[in-house]
Amino acid sequence: MKTLIMYYSKSGNTETVAKTLSNELSTDLIKIEDNKKRDGLFSMSRSVKDALREAKTKISPEKLDLDDYDLIYIGTPVWAGKPTPAIITAIDTYDFKGKNVILFATMKKSGDEKTIAKMKEKIQVQGAKVINSFAIKVPNQNGNGIKDYTIGIIKNLSLK
Ligand SMILES: Cc1cc2nc3c(=O)[nH]c(=O)nc-3n(C[C@H](O)[C@H](O)[C@H](O)COP(=O)(O)O)c2cc1C
Repeated sequence: MKTLIMYYSKSGNTETVAKTLSNELSTDLIKIEDNKKRDGLFSMSRSVKDALREAKTKISPEKLDLDDYDLIYIGTPVWAGKPTPAIITAIDTYDFKGKNVILFATMKKSGDEKTIAKMKEKIQVQGAKVINSFAIKVPNQNGNGIKDYTIGIIKNLSLK
């Protein structure tokens, strides 16, 4: 059984979780890039607006062959209580039919439940089965804090 960790990350928190999962569970790893400019003066409000509308965006890779994988983790930061546009687009674009999926999110404070619920709703429409999910609150942890927390989750949820 082959596993893939797929994630979007703007400032690195979700990336730390994804890389820790990939290292600990010996999986493949892919970062989804959002081709829309997300830096700069108005980027925060634009990103919030896009997330609230569940707007699609242009992502890289545009296409992704998931045939080799039975289990796929999908990770996103919480934006305005929603999944990011990059992950919304990935879920709608790639073929997840028949896959087992584990969803995860990182956030500062709240919105994780709504975010996971939205991802679950969308991925189930694609014919995938959500077998687990988790969220990591990152108020101001450094990379090591996030890593340790992720290792704790791997143990608690018996992901190995
Ligand atoms: C546009 C935007 C919207 C956000 N909205 C929320 C939110 O609704 N709730 C929350 O707890 N954190 C929110 N955050 C904080 C991020 O979810 C949090 O810092 C996350 O860990 C960032 O992940 P990343 O470093 O992988 O990009 C938001 C951040 C951004 C940039």
